[in-house]
Amino acid sequence: MANSKTSLETLVALAKRRGFIFQGSEIYGGLAGTWDYGPYGVLLKNNIKQLWWQHFVTERENMYGLDTAILMNAKVWEASGHTGAGFADPLVEDKVTHMRYRADHLLEDNGVDDASSLAVPEMDAKIKELKIKSPAGNELTPVRQFNLMFPVRIGSTEDSTSIAYLRGETAQGMFVNFKNVLDSLHPKLPFGLAQIGKNFRNEITPKEFIFRVREFDIMELEYFVDPDTWEETFANLQKQSHAWFTRIGLAPADIHELDVPAADRAHYSKKTVDFEYKFPFGVKEIAGLAYRTDFDLKNHTEHSGTDLSYSDDTGKKFIPHVIEPTFGLDRHVLAVLAAAYEEEAAGEGDTRIVLHLKPELAPVKIAVSPLLRNKPELVKVAREVFTTLKKEFGAVAYDDNGNIGKRYRRQDEIGTPLCVVVDFDSLEDKSVTVRHRDTMQQSRVEITKLEDGLAGQLASF
Ligand code: GAP
Repeated sequence: MANSKTSLETLVALAKRRGFIFQGSEIYGGLAGTWDYGPYGVLLKNNIKQLWWQHFVTERENMYGLDTAILMNAKVWEASGHTGAGFADPLVEDKVTHMRYRADHLLEDNGVDDASSLAVPEMDAKIKELKIKSPAGNELTPVRQFNLMFPVRIGSTEDSTSIAYLRGETAQGMFVNFKNVLDSLHPKLPFGLAQIGKNFRNEITPKEFIFRVREFDIMELEYFVDPDTWEETFANLQKQSHAWFTRIGLAPADIHELDVPAADRAHYSKKTVDFEYKFPFGVKEIAGLAYRTDFDLKNHTEHSGTDLSYSDDTGKKFIPHVIEPTFGLDRHVLAVLAAAYEEEAAGEGDTRIVLHLKPELAPVKIAVSPLLRNKPELVKVAREVFTTLKKEFGAVAYDDNGNIGKRYRRQDEIGTPLCVVVDFDSLEDKSVTVRHRDTMQQSRVEITKLEDGLAGQLASF
């Protein structure tokens, strides 16, 4: 069931209105499958990344970060299987408009459950049996597999040696650096590599805002283990993943686990659990946990001729197995926005829109305002308070746009937990008003005690 608190359209409108997310290349009519993050979107996204890094890297042992190249040698993707049928989606084309569609999505839209587990000939047969037409009502071509990798030409030569690929998953950058990490840091199993970065997939039908796009970020771990211990590690990372969703404010009841049947698993996986979130448009994948076995290191050993095995202290030599938790960052941004969104009745037929973001994720933690922007005595104190708080809390905004009521509403829509207002009384009692986003309650706090007071209030959300 969809998250009923809001619709996707409402979130898209809020994201644009408040400077979170804009359509990619908008002034030229856009480019399908691309979105640009605006000032508050960048802050929210960075906060999610930082918290993820803290949760899965800093707070754990034996975790090492990497930041590998987006452009990768074509041979990497041949070895990993991504240029083959394993990394392709079923495509049909409208014979008149030449618009392309995912065959499994069309089947599902026409009531066929679990269409993605059907083989291509079975999809073809179903489309014929159900007489499915394109959304424009035209005949469709037979189903064929469409590879999702983005090839690019490197340098000035035009031959096949100049073809490289934009990476389709961050994982391969970690596998091809496995030996570099072993040789330079000498970690002992089990250990993990972590990476956050851009991925590119030529999706046939990008849709649902930032849910399915052609360029997106993944936050990902490759955890290397002795094959005998994979189940224990899998269970542990499954637990850690649930703790992560709770940490960012997604209700446990809105997270569904799907044990992915063999026919639907990625070509490299022997077991996959998908974590699905109750998005406004349905329960859909937000993250995954896969047992990749030794598939990748073995294939890279064979294709590159570089030995990617590991020797333990007893002299046992083997290719480590891999457990991979993978989290789509853009889908996290969307889920966090959907979970935080609320429309509240605010009296006299008025409605207050508020994002109940966790303070760690809120783009702005505190907004500081003078009650009136044209009163230099108030502005002077507000500026001093702002400068002090900015040093302490970083993400502090100075907001003197519109009247105080409008400022509160704007900050509520951005998800700012606390607003600080300097008024005429402040000049006398050296205190300011602190307004709480969720309760809307206001309290007076002495300026000299403000940093501690605000830290306490932020911690209590
Ligand atoms: N290394 C494993 C891997 O890449 P995946 O399930 O293909 O696994 C990981 O992708 C995550 O990336 C997914 O769980 C999803 O959250 C996100 N994702 C996948 N395709 C996406 C797309 N086209 N747009 C936005 N996010 C996407």
